[in-house]
Amino acid sequence: MKRIAILTAGGDTPALNATIFGAVERANALRIEVIGIIRGFAGVVDPRLPHVRLNPLFTTIPELDPCHGGSLLGASRTYIDPDQTELIAEITPRLKQLGIEGLICVGGDGTINGMQPLSEHFPCVLAPKTIDNDLGLNYIDEVNEYNEAGQKTGGSRYSAHEQLDLEEIVNFATPGYATAVFVVAQGIERIRTTAESHRRIAIIEVMGRDSGYIPLGSAYGQPDIILIPEVRLDMDKLEHRIAELYDLQKHVVISIGEGISDLDGHQLGAATKSFDPAGNVIFSGAAEELKRLLCKRFGDEFFGTRRKHESADSAIFTRKVGHTQRGGRPIKFDRFYATQLGGKAVDLIVAGQNNSVATLQWSQKEGFFLDSLPANKLRDAWKRIHPRKVHLSLYDADRFQPSKLGKEYLRTILTNAIGQDDIEQIGSELFSAGKLSTRYQSVNIDIQRRIETLKDA
Ligand code: F6P
Repeated sequence: MKRIAILTAGGDTPALNATIFGAVERANALRIEVIGIIRGFAGVVDPRLPHVRLNPLFTTIPELDPCHGGSLLGASRTYIDPDQTELIAEITPRLKQLGIEGLICVGGDGTINGMQPLSEHFPCVLAPKTIDNDLGLNYIDEVNEYNEAGQKTGGSRYSAHEQLDLEEIVNFATPGYATAVFVVAQGIERIRTTAESHRRIAIIEVMGRDSGYIPLGSAYGQPDIILIPEVRLDMDKLEHRIAELYDLQKHVVISIGEGISDLDGHQLGAATKSFDPAGNVIFSGAAEELKRLLCKRFGDEFFGTRRKHESADSAIFTRKVGHTQRGGRPIKFDRFYATQLGGKAVDLIVAGQNNSVATLQWSQKEGFFLDSLPANKLRDAWKRIHPRKVHLSLYDADRFQPSKLGKEYLRTILTNAIGQDDIEQIGSELFSAGKLSTRYQSVNIDIQRRIETLKDA
């Protein structure tokens, strides 16, 4: 194999460049050229096929920095629908014209759907990425538990209270997740002191869509209450716990996953139904909606008599951690394993694998190790890929905190996730005097000079 291509699809993560770097370094060792396609599937569907040579003469270009968040190739939420047969028929010869013999897609579940039709024409492999940590399965045959309507049936191999075997998790953690948790934990710690000083209730919304891994991991910021989308919100129970904590410590910090729903299954943050190009509901504000519900339940008097607040509205505040959890420098765990997974994706392509996914596995004996599985193993009987949900044995719904097993899961990923260089980087670079006299130098400008199109080829 002489030449492969790589693209980054879907939302960005801090670890994308690290994955690309791992793939390119592995390709250098194997004397394979790597073409980076600009802006994910948007680049692939563009007849000009904008691209960049990532390792001319088998040397990685200097713009590819594994410590820099986002993707030097750019990302987009453009997806290829398997039904777009005409479009797919146009893409294949274009890639072949460039001499591309295999394609690595760095992405999540939506990306697998886009990759699948292309894999019928040449080898495609997925290197996983998503801050949501929802690409994978709690155990290998979990997909068989979905019914035609896309819901989990009663016949689950693990009942809600039966402990999951952590060694069975398919794709234990995804690059991007650890950095997101790092940012969220710090955000919660910072908001805490304001809530504490002003005797307020802080509701902090974190990302993750329908999966609660980020709110679960937010436990490192020690929020008093963690609400994950996998457990429907029982407002009576929540109100009781908030009142208890507010009386005790004069403030409360709540971490809430954006996809949370009430007991009727209504998603709090999806009040206005809008859809992004991948077909996902765009969450507009679970925290705001929870605040509205709490203001109604507690009323102004509760806060006026207790802490001299004028109103419930002024006593409860919301903050979204937002896109800060998706960007910036990846911490060591993400850098290290993203690089490994990028390299693994190259090895899979070279070994003749097609439509398969590189995975990060964990066992007590071996720690983290690399593996792979056919992408179709992630599909249910109706060929759908479901976001992996936090298994209920990882969460203690009575205490609104991770369970014992949930803590074990988090410790496995995060205990040594920050490197000494991450700490040193803050000390040496954040307040470096030079920053005041230089402008930010965007990688987009540097890469623009390297972009070629099919016409130039
Ligand atoms: O899937 C990653 C994610 O960050 C989700 O957690 C979040 O709901 C969504 O993307 C936000 O998307 P956008 O960047 O388009 O606002």
